[in-house]
Amino acid sequence: MTSISIGRRRELGPLGEVGAIAFGCWRFVHEDLDTAIEVVSTAVGLGFDLIDTADVYGLEWGGAGFGSVERLLGQVLTARPDLRERVVLATKGGVRPGVPLDSSAAYLQQACDASLGRLGVERIDLYQVHRPDLLTHPEEVAGVLDRLVESGKVRAVGVSNHTVAQTEALASFMRNPLVSTQPRFSAAHLGSLRDGTFDLAMRSGLVPLLWSPLAGGRLVTGEGVRTELTVALDRLAAAHDVDRTTVALAFCLAQAPRPVVIVGSQNVSRLRRYPDALALELSRDEIYTIVEASEGTRPL
Ligand SMILES: NC(=O)c1ccc[n+]([C@@H]2O[C@H](COP(=O)([O-])OP(=O)(O)OC[C@H]3O[C@@H](n4cnc5c(N)ncnc54)[C@H](OP(=O)(O)O)[C@@H]3O)[C@@H](O)[C@H]2O)c1
Repeated sequence: MTSISIGRRRELGPLGEVGAIAFGCWRFVHEDLDTAIEVVSTAVGLGFDLIDTADVYGLEWGGAGFGSVERLLGQVLTARPDLRERVVLATKGGVRPGVPLDSSAAYLQQACDASLGRLGVERIDLYQVHRPDLLTHPEEVAGVLDRLVESGKVRAVGVSNHTVAQTEALASFMRNPLVSTQPRFSAAHLGSLRDGTFDLAMRSGLVPLLWSPLAGGRLVTGEGVRTELTVALDRLAAAHDVDRTTVALAFCLAQAPRPVVIVGSQNVSRLRRYPDALALELSRDEIYTIVEASEGTRPL
């Protein structure tokens, strides 16, 4: 059986190499700074050296509101400048509670400035448009993204939750390259395989940063997930003497564009087990077995 080689590092354009597993901050709502430092330093120590956050994080999961996750992350990076030096710091703007989307030039410019302030950094490594704003012309979005890069406020830019057509329209107006696209993808959400997201990534050199690779934990708990899928994951886990989580992450890592997976656990003992997925090379037929179990039809 041919196994699919997944590698451990990914080339993220001008940002250089990052680990194939990244640490996500959607649920980064810790009560004290020491715990927050422990979680981030554990993740970075494991090689999860891209940290993904967003200005809006903190509104959910018991957080203190818009901006509060960036503020806490900023406190961590201020207390531990060694961590700041070791990571690619990625954030997003454009979700505006109550509006709900705004990627106008004026808004993104001030949103990026506010993120810089909360994160306590002079430069954001990767600034992403969080969700496509249906009311702003892509030429205007491209203009502000180019200005953010060219003013030195951000090193590179990317998109999140954009369709292929939205990504291409934006890219067509830009002077600087888009380096990443951030879709939802897991063994339970295979849309990017067939909606062109992965094809565009491979054609244009965008790195997919996959959000919710464990379907927000549901692939582990089984809640709302096809039983056939959890059974298939468990069968492969038993065959390889690993757990279901490891198979689910290895499945994501093996996708053709060689994506980065953004894990969201805030539990350090779970984080410590995630690198097991980097060592698990599933075979071609095992990967297709997961696709079939997820979709309920043979992918022929
Ligand atoms: N661009 C976007 O629109 C968007 C949207 C969503 C997320 N994201 C990004 O993607 C990152 C990851 O998303 P995610 O947090 O949904 O990722 P995930 O890794 O799929 O899910 C993490 C969740 O699963 C839970 N979990 C993991 N193992 C478990 C187990 N054995 N038993 C019970 N629960 C378990 C974790 O709880 P514990 O913390 O207790 O381990 C956590 O709540 C986010 O932090 C964010 O950076 C982006």
